[in-house]
Amino acid sequence: MSVDLRTRVDSEQVPVDAGLFFRELLPLRLAEHRALIAPGASELRLVDFCIETDGEPWTLAWNDDRVSVTPGHRGEARVRLDAAQLSDIVNDQSTPVALMSNKLLDMPEGGLPDFLNWWLVLRAALDGRRIHARGDVTFSNGLRRSFTPGDSDESMRAFLEDAGYLHIRGLFSEAEMAAVAADFPKAAPHYEKGDPKAWFATTQDGVDRLVRMEGFERYSEATVQLIDDERFRRIGSIPGIGHTQVRKPGARVGALSKPIGVVKGISDVPWHKDCSLGRHSYECCSLTVGISVTGADADSGQLRVVPGSHRALVWPAPCVQPGLDLEPVDLPTGVGDVTVHLSCTLHMSQPPVHRTRKVLYTGFGQRAADPEAADLNRQRLQAVRSKTHTSVSQEPGYLGD
Ligand SMILES: [Fe+2]
Repeated sequence: MSVDLRTRVDSEQVPVDAGLFFRELLPLRLAEHRALIAPGASELRLVDFCIETDGEPWTLAWNDDRVSVTPGHRGEARVRLDAAQLSDIVNDQSTPVALMSNKLLDMPEGGLPDFLNWWLVLRAALDGRRIHARGDVTFSNGLRRSFTPGDSDESMRAFLEDAGYLHIRGLFSEAEMAAVAADFPKAAPHYEKGDPKAWFATTQDGVDRLVRMEGFERYSEATVQLIDDERFRRIGSIPGIGHTQVRKPGARVGALSKPIGVVKGISDVPWHKDCSLGRHSYECCSLTVGISVTGADADSGQLRVVPGSHRALVWPAPCVQPGLDLEPVDLPTGVGDVTVHLSCTLHMSQPPVHRTRKVLYTGFGQRAADPEAADLNRQRLQAVRSKTHTSVSQEPGYLGD
C-alpha cells in the first residue's frame, strides 16, 4: 500500500446543512457503504445516538446490520453541536477527540466512547473507509524490526507501509547528540509560560518544568545541521511519494525533556494518532521523526506504537480501542537512534519512572493539493487546538492498553 491516504481537498469543502445532511446525504452514504460499515460496526457497542445540531435532534440507531437515521431524540447518548462543529466533523476537519481535548464536548447523556463508536460509522459512510473488524490487518514483514542506515530504502519502505513505523539505529553519533543536548539549557531561557511554543508541566514536587520547546532549531545550530543533513533528509524519501520538510522556519523541531512524576500538564502523550484531532483525509500520512538525544526504554520515556493501526479505522485516541486485536510494541532506543511513525499509527510515550529523557521531534509531510485553502483551515482550527496540550494528561507509568 502507498502511505498517501488523502481523499479530500480543502478547496472542495462544502458547508453542511444539518437537516439536509441527516435527511438525505447521510442515509445515502450509509446505504452506499454498508459493506464497509457492517462487519466492524457489529463488533462495536453502538447505542442509539442523538446528534443535536443547534437544537435540531436526529437519532442514529444500529439495527441488525444497518443504520437508521430518524428525526427526534431518543436513546442513551446525545451530543450537542453547533452548525460549525457539525460541519467540521462531517468534513473531517475536526473529531470528537478535538472537542473533548479542548473542553468543547457537550454530551448531556452518554460519553466519548459512544461518540467515537459512531464517529467510526460516520467516517466509513462519508469517506468510504472500512471500519476495522477483527482479523482485517495482517502482516507480511513481522511486527518488530530495527534497521541500520546501511539497509535499503526499499526494505524500510516495505516495513513502514506494513507496520506504520521504523526504528533506525545509530543514524547519528553520540558526539552529535551531545552537542544537541548541550543546547537544551541554552535554549530554555528563551521560553516563557504563556508562549504557545513553550509547554510546561508540573511535577509531584509542585515545580513547573519546561517540557517542550517548539522551534528549538532557532537556538541550536547543531540541530539545524542534523535536519539539513542528507542522512536525515533521506527519511522523507523512504515512502517514495514526495514527502518533504513542510514545517515552517522557526517551527521545525520540538525539543522535549521528559521529567519524572508529572501531575499536571502534558509531557507524555497518551495513545493517539497524530490525525486524532482531524484532517486525516487531507494530510495523511505525514511522518513524525523522533531523534533520541538520550536513550529511552521502559523506565525512561520510550515510544510505543501499535503496528498496523494506520491501516485500521479505529478510535484515534485517547486509548487503544477496547477489544482491538492489534498489539502494542515497545520501541527502546539508543543515543542517536531515530523512530519514524506515520500520522495514522497509534502511539504513546511511556511516562518515565527512573530516568529522564531528551528527544527531538520533527517530520515530513505531503504538499497539500491546494496549499492556500489548507493553510486557512489549519489556522482556523489552530485557535481551538492550542488548548490541547494543557488539557490531556496521564499518570507516571501509565500504559493505557
Ligand atoms: Fe503524536
